[in-house]
Amino acid sequence: MRTPIVAGNWKMNLGRSQAQELASGLRETAGKEKGVEVILCPSYTLLHVVHDAVQGSSVALGAQNLFWEEKGAYTGEVSASMLLDSGCSHVIIGHSERRQYFGETDASVRRRLVSALEAGLIPIVCVGETLEEREEGSTELVIERQISGALERFKPEDAAKIIIAYEPVWAIGTGRTATPVMAQEVHRMIRNWMAKTFGDDVAEGVRILYGGSMKPGSAAELMAQPDIDGGLIGGASLKVDDFTAIIQAAR
Ligand code: 13P
Repeated sequence: MRTPIVAGNWKMNLGRSQAQELASGLRETAGKEKGVEVILCPSYTLLHVVHDAVQGSSVALGAQNLFWEEKGAYTGEVSASMLLDSGCSHVIIGHSERRQYFGETDASVRRRLVSALEAGLIPIVCVGETLEEREEGSTELVIERQISGALERFKPEDAAKIIIAYEPVWAIGTGRTATPVMAQEVHRMIRNWMAKTFGDDVAEGVRILYGGSMKPGSAAELMAQPDIDGGLIGGASLKVDDFTAIIQAAR
């Protein structure tokens, strides 16, 4: 049995007091749910606030990105060891918004992954096709290229530590969710790729999350699919009630 994960990607939202309020609220609700791992990923500037708000509860802290160098003259960047020092256990890597706006490639995703794993952070690596790619029938090809570009040549024991998030770009922030069948198809394909590359044990254990307009109303049906092990939530993670409802659906 894979323990489901519900992770909130707050993206570039919220100030100190709102973050404090949201995290404390979630500590009261999400912190009490058993059988689901809950991770909050605020912006760098809010890591300390959220860390203090959830400390001592079961809610984990993650960042939205990292840079692969450990320290030095890299203005504006944050390293894996800095994230650890700020209380993070997880980090999102290769989100489509980073690929789209900040030139992230499969090769740079891989470097970030290596550095996260070396530091002992658990990476949540994101993959997903654009609408154009889906419409021309190349979804499978794109996902396989992203996942093999990022993960191939890892040792199975390292691959086993990684969480994967399938986020179809056309479903992010659009209110247009993939149907459970559509999402399951891609999740299955990812698990098959993991089995072929790293063996059945790794594939059976790896958690594959769905992301893209997941809301309380669609969460249960998506997460009931055999290969969907939770969600990476954007918009709905900014509201205590909605995010809590999704966590309850995962349970
Ligand atoms: P939305 O839930 O707002 O569509 O965002 C999904 C996402 O990108 C999470 O990383």
